[in-house]
Formats: sequence, structure tokens, C-alpha cells
Amino acid sequence: MGTKVTVVGGGSTYTPELVDSLCDHQDRISVDELVLLDPDTDRLEAVGGLTDRILRAKGWTGTLTTTSDRHRAIDGADFVVVQLRVGGQSARHSDETVPGGYGCLGQETTGPGGLAKALRTVPLVLEIAEETAERAAPAAWLVDFTNPVGIVTQALLDEGHRAVGLCNVAMLVQRRIGHYLGLDPDRVELEHVGLNHLTWARSATVDGVNRMPELLERYRAEFELETGIPAGLLRLLGALPSYYLHYYYCLDHNVAEQAAPGWRTRAEVVAELECELLDEYRDPNLITRPEKLSFRGGAFYSEAAVRLMASLGAGTGDIQVVDVRNDGALAELSDDAVVEVPCKVDATGAHPLPQRALPPDMAGLVAHCKAYERLAVEAAITGSRDTMIRALVANPLVGQYPRAEQLADALLAANRHWLPRFFPGER
Ligand code: G6P
Repeated sequence: MGTKVTVVGGGSTYTPELVDSLCDHQDRISVDELVLLDPDTDRLEAVGGLTDRILRAKGWTGTLTTTSDRHRAIDGADFVVVQLRVGGQSARHSDETVPGGYGCLGQETTGPGGLAKALRTVPLVLEIAEETAERAAPAAWLVDFTNPVGIVTQALLDEGHRAVGLCNVAMLVQRRIGHYLGLDPDRVELEHVGLNHLTWARSATVDGVNRMPELLERYRAEFELETGIPAGLLRLLGALPSYYLHYYYCLDHNVAEQAAPGWRTRAEVVAELECELLDEYRDPNLITRPEKLSFRGGAFYSEAAVRLMASLGAGTGDIQVVDVRNDGALAELSDDAVVEVPCKVDATGAHPLPQRALPPDMAGLVAHCKAYERLAVEAAITGSRDTMIRALVANPLVGQYPRAEQLADALLAANRHWLPRFFPGER
């Protein structure tokens, strides 16, 4: 029997990449029904049109549907891929600018901006998960790409949903390392551990040999450029942190950079890029995804999604880095904490592999951020301003009071329209 995949937020400019990957991996996963669900019919028309042309050009014979009807989209689905963005780039712009007014970092997944995004997103993704449990195929999986992935997945798994969180960071790091070693990235086995957007590659093993010490020695300058983390710190850590850790390790520098005249938010840059992409997508002669799409940070996310769905569907038992319940993988965290680690993926789910004990600096930061993530989930579900303030105090990128309280009120004001749990009856 064929597979039905529903993409929630299917009007995203990323969709053509996902579709490309689905076609390229038909030997691993055979999808015969693809549904793009999006409330924005304009986008759906542009993205759906290109999607259809790509699929046909690649000889795909399945059914493609574009719809704004959630019930219809989720009915009988085997996989529900969630890649939505509540409030679009304008809400992201506020995540990236409001914190600056309080001397804090403006970023859409970490720090106060990430909390605002979590508050907008968690209730909606939970609604979609409930609908998936009711209407999708009995053993359907929800694959979450929606940021902040760590918090959204924590909320999903706390509520008992069949969900896996996914990010492209591990895949990007694996590709960079493959590039530096002149090897097929699939040969590099990464010891990638931590929480979503808070991970370190502690080793990179090829044919049984850990090449990380050699890589850190030879390519420290390149890694500094790619992650924004000073070479001196890379040496001390003896591991390759993800790009997102530069927001923690170099916080003052980042805040100052954002306060400099002429600074543009990533939301502004992406909004412009999206307009250009959508214009290109509307061209009836275009039958491949435009090069420009690779300027988005989520490149290769689709590769990760298709690999995950294929392994869950076929029960291959291969190793992939995903976001799941810890279940003992990191001894420093409780079993129900969602972590991002290598997992064995089979038909029953993604099972985290036990990891080495974390050194004190990594263990401390991970525990600190997990405490924040838990409060973020609670605030998003309850709509409690008090819990939101506690979450900000617990976030290492805020951590101070009364700043946390002022920031909470500013973020609530900026997001009022998107927070029905905080402002019931207003929408
Ligand atoms: C990275 C992250 C993703 C994030 C993306 C943003 O790849 O891993 O979680 O969504 O960057 O890219 P953008 O083009 O929207 O800035």
C-alpha cells in the first residue's frame, strides 16, 4: 500500500526541496499521495504549482492536493510533516527586535524571541497532533520541523503523541566534516549531543577512528568562521558546537552587533528572499527548485525528513540524529526530557543511543536550558504570564529580574494577536 504524506505549512518556500527529496528517494519511500495544507491560498497556488511541475518532470505518478481544509488534509495520512510558521516573517521580525530594547539577544529560536515563537506555536502544533491522533492512519507519525523544535517536541511528547522532532544542524555538520575530510558525509559517524539548537559534535568517527581532534587542529579557523565561535574556545571545548552556541558563548558581542546602525533582521532578509522565490515559483516554465532556495538556513532539512520517514516506514534500524525522549541517553537529564542525539530508527520509532557523560560545562548548560524549555512549554499551554516570566529568568540569555518581567510584557504586547491562551476571546 502507498503512503500519504501531509505537509502542514505546505505553502512554505521550502516545499520544493522536500518534494525533490521525496522523488530522489522513491526507492526508500514510495509516496502516492502528497497533500500541501496551508491557510494562505496565494502561497499554496504558487508553491503547489511548482511542486506539481517538479513532480511531473521527475515522473512521479501520485496524487498531489493543495488545500486549506485541515480535516481533509490529515484524514488517513501516514506522515504529518509540520513546518508551519505562526505569524510569518513579521512575527519573526518582532522576535528579533523586541528583545534588543531590553539589552537582550533577538533570535527566533533561542533566548526571548524563541520563547515568543514557542508561545505562538505550541498550542497550534498540539491541536494538529490531536487531529492526527484522531484522523490520520492508526500508526501515523508526526514529524516536527517547526521551531523551536526542542520545545515543540517536548510539548508533543509530554502529551503522549507519536512524534519525532527534526533539525538540519546535524546533517549540515556531517556534510561540512565530510567536505573537510574529502569523504562521503554518510561515512562520518557524528557524536552529536545536547538539546535542539544547543548541541556539540564531540567526535566524528570514520572507519573506527575519531577524526575530531585532527579536524579541530587543522580547520579551527574555518570552524570559527562557520560557527562564530572563537578558535580559542573550540580548542578548550575539544568539540565542535553548533552555530547556535555562539549566541551563548559570545552573547555580548551578538547583542552589540544587533544594536549597531544598519543592522537588518534575518526576518527582513528572508521576507525579501521569499518574495523573489514566490515570483519565480509562479513562472509556469520553472520545473526545478531555484538555486536561490539554498540561501535559506534550512537547506537539507528535506533530506533529513525523507530519510526519517523512510526509516520509520520500512523499519530499517539505521542511525539518525533526531529529537526524542532522553530515556537514559544523557545520564544528566531525566528520561522524559527531549534531547537531540543519535537514534536507531525502526518501525516502532526513534530510540536514543546511550551517550558518554557530558563534561561539566556542557552538562550545566544543557540542564539550565532544559529547565527553561520546560517552563516555556508550561507557559505556552497555560497562557500564564507568571510562568512566562519564570521561563525568561530561567533562560541563560536573559536570567535577570525585573528585565524578564518587562520583556515578558513587551513580547506579550507584540504577539497579542497570536496568543489566544494569554488573551482569550480576542481573535
Ligand atoms: C537553521 C536551523 C533551522 C532554521 C533555519 C533558519 O538551518 O537549523 O532550524 O529554521 O536555520 O533559516 P532562515 O533561512 O529562515 O533564516
